[in-house]
This record gives sequence, structure tokens and C-alpha cells, in this order.
Amino acid sequence: MFVWSKVSPVSKQSILEDQFLGLAQTNAVITELSGKKRFRIEVYCDDKNDAQKILNEFGGHVSELKIKDWAKMNASSDRPPIKIRDRLIITDTDEPKEIKKIYDRFEGRDVISIPAALAFGTGDHETTSTCLRLLVDLAKEYNKSNEDWSLCDIGTGTGILAIAAKMLGSKMVECFDFDSTAISIAKRNISKNQMPGILIYEADLFEWEPKKKKCWDIITANIFANVLNANLSKIFNALAPEGNLILSGILREHENSVIESAQKTSLIDPIIYRKGKWVSMHYRKE
Ligand SMILES: C[S@@+](CC[C@H](N)C(=O)[O-])C[C@H]1O[C@@H](n2cnc3c(N)ncnc32)[C@H](O)[C@@H]1O
Repeated sequence: MFVWSKVSPVSKQSILEDQFLGLAQTNAVITELSGKKRFRIEVYCDDKNDAQKILNEFGGHVSELKIKDWAKMNASSDRPPIKIRDRLIITDTDEPKEIKKIYDRFEGRDVISIPAALAFGTGDHETTSTCLRLLVDLAKEYNKSNEDWSLCDIGTGTGILAIAAKMLGSKMVECFDFDSTAISIAKRNISKNQMPGILIYEADLFEWEPKKKKCWDIITANIFANVLNANLSKIFNALAPEGNLILSGILREHENSVIESAQKTSLIDPIIYRKGKWVSMHYRKE
């Protein structure tokens, strides 16, 4: 694994973010540096040539990521637990003793352990936390009426949304990602959180064919607008009648394009949640 990185002034942040993140370059990680005047952008590449190409275009530098760095990235940090409604706690520790302490401290809530890793979805990003809150609310509705419900998570990253769905009582959970590293990490998280029965596989949404049509009660897709727009009709067909679609990871400037693409598949009147520059949408299929 190779990592390209560059430190730049914050004035250039949105341009660079759009260039990397908007192009579904999802192995990009942006970190604000102390003083908030500069930020570091890193892009993780399996192939050294890919890292080299970015270097040629944008400057910065390339280094090899050693096994010990991976271990360091996966080590627990001191990030405070993240509360999702009165139902879930997300922690980055995977120490059983620490997890037990969190269960004791937040009685009545379930705890999901997602250590920091080379995949997106540790719960602290607005796009993920909004999906989690919506999931908690929908699970409450389904569980109250004793209905079985199913969920498919598109672009699962660390597997956080799939794990949450299973923990919240979903009977059938499926998830996929096109990034093999994310799949390995998600598999590990599913196992560590003791949530067997989640079907997980590597697939690109552009080639994905749902095994059954009109089958999922909930579909979550926290992916960039360009990927969503191109695949909304397929996602719509996979959704059960009266199913719920949670879309996230949409930059504000792409909000209208997603609404227009959704309209073409007859998805209308979303509830829209805006947080900073990010937008999430909740659609119900009629
Ligand atoms: C923003 S992350 C979301 C991760 C997690 N679901 C969450 O909500 O935190 C987007 C994920 O989608 C995956 N992804 C992007 N484009 C994809 C595609 N065409 N097919 C499948 N997965 C894709 C990325 O690898 C990444 O893990």
C-alpha cells in the first residue's frame, strides 16, 4: 500500500476535496491540522503507479505504508463515544474491558465498536451519523409494529450501517463495497461485534444486480452524488413497495442533481437533512 499526501492552506480545501472526493476517490482522507489554517490530504493506493500519477499532477509526496503503520492506524484512540439517539453508542475501542465499561456507563444502549482503519465509516462523519439516526428511527417504527424488515447497505466501508441494522433488529442484512480493503475491514468489524448473518461481498454498484427485485425495506447509500445519480433507477427497482431509501454523502452543490435523478425514477418529496456542506435525504417509495 502506498500513500500520497500533501499539506495545503484551507483556502484550497473545497477545490481539492471536490477533485478527490467528488470523483469517488474514496481512499482519500482529509485531516485538519492544528490552528485550522492548513489541512492534509492523503490518498491510499494499492499500486505505486497510481500514487505516482497523483504526485505528478498535484505535487506532494509518496511513501510506502508499512505493516506497523497499519497497526498504528487500527489502534484505539481516545475519541469519546458517539451517541446515536438513546439507542446506540459508537466507540473506536475494541478492548472488551473498555466496551463493557461503555455498556455500564450507557445502560440500555447497544455499543458498536469500529476502530479507526483504512475504510470510511467510524461514525463521526456527518454523513454516517445522519444515516445512523435515520436507521434508529426507522427500526423503531418497524419493530413497534412487529414487522420483519431487511436492509441493503451500498458502499459499506467499515460495515457500520450494516452492523447497526442487524443490532437494531433487521432480519436480513446485505452489504457490499467495491474496495477490497473495506470488505476485509467490514468483515472483521462484523465478526468483532458478533453480528453473524450479514451477507457481505465485493461489488461495484455500477455492475451490481440485486438478487431479487423490489425486495429491500431499507436501502442505505452513503456515496457521492455522481455514483448515486448514475444508479438511482437500479436502486429504486431493488426497493420494496413503501420501502425507505437513505441517501447521504451528497455535497450541497450536488443536492439538486440527486433530487432530479430521483424524480425520474418517481421518488419524490424527500426529507432533507443538511449538515455543513453535506446533505442526506430520506425517500419513501410509494
Ligand atoms: C462515504 S463511504 C460510506 C461508508 C459507510 N457506509 C458509512 O456510511 O460511513 C462510501 C463507500 O462507498 C464505496 N464506494 C464508492 N463507490 C462505489 C461503487 N461504485 N460501488 C461500490 N462501493 C462504492 C467506497 O469504497 C466507500 O467505502
